[in-house]
Amino acid sequence: MSPAGGAASLNVAIAHKDHLRASGEPLRALEDLRLTLPAGQAGAVVGPSGCGKTTLLRLIAGLDRDYVGHIALPAHGRLGMVFQEPRLLPWRSVADNIAIAAPEASSPEIAALLDDLALTEHATHFPGELSLGLARRAALARALAVKPDLLLLDEPLVSLDAALARGLRDKIAALIDEKRITTLIVTHDLAEAIALADRVFLLSPRPARIVATLDIPAPRARLTKASGLALETQAREALLRSQ
Ligand SMILES: Nc1ncnc2c1ncn2[C@@H]1O[C@H](COP(=O)(O)OP(=O)(O)OP(=O)(O)O)[C@@H](O)[C@H]1O
Ligand SMILES: [Mg+2]
Repeated sequence: MSPAGGAASLNVAIAHKDHLRASGEPLRALEDLRLTLPAGQAGAVVGPSGCGKTTLLRLIAGLDRDYVGHIALPAHGRLGMVFQEPRLLPWRSVADNIAIAAPEASSPEIAALLDDLALTEHATHFPGELSLGLARRAALARALAVKPDLLLLDEPLVSLDAALARGLRDKIAALIDEKRITTLIVTHDLAEAIALADRVFLLSPRPARIVATLDIPAPRARLTKASGLALETQAREALLRSQ
């Protein structure tokens, strides 16, 4: 139980998860992967490309139930997910994409979310008219509109140029601080993980398991550059020891 009012944490205990290759051979993606994220905190899962991060997120989201193990979601289990590709409905405007995903959200709530993510002037635009950064923000607004108990973000900053990535990272950090939604962010970028999360889970190469967990003493904007770099060094040493 969390001290903040009884909401349960996210608990993941996966004994193993295999994919099936085209040849019919099993491919082990995850093995003995356990993590706990207290309610209201942001966790970041960091690991090399292809290690099993998206696989893990899909299991937590309930999109893939073919695994051995157990996953317990925070209270109510309402999910918001932003995929590696934004996956907006191309024939609907940004505002309609949000309204369709979250029919219970009122117009003022949607307007407030669009404002939070600096999307107001793009509300009537269609996904084909958006840059990748704008589409990511729209997908994030859509995920938040359902008032999730758990927010899952798969590489939210990948393929954005440095300035855009920094801008979106700061927005995500502000939303985490303001809304206190239990959030799990997948990334291959350690500095990004340290900048966003309360707790960082370091994954091994495939099959992914947790090699180290770092609790960030002063998460998000309160972390100085020097203490961020010290944590990065500590994490890289843990990764090296695991290889
Ligand atoms: N549906 C699938 N069928 C077969 N193999 C799969 C399937 N999905 C993923 N894999 C394989 O499982 C492994 C883990 O894939 P996953 O997409 O989880 O990695 P990832 O850590 O998210 O990578 P990236 O950082 O590139 O997004 C990879 O070797 C991938 O090829
Ligand atoms: Mg992935």
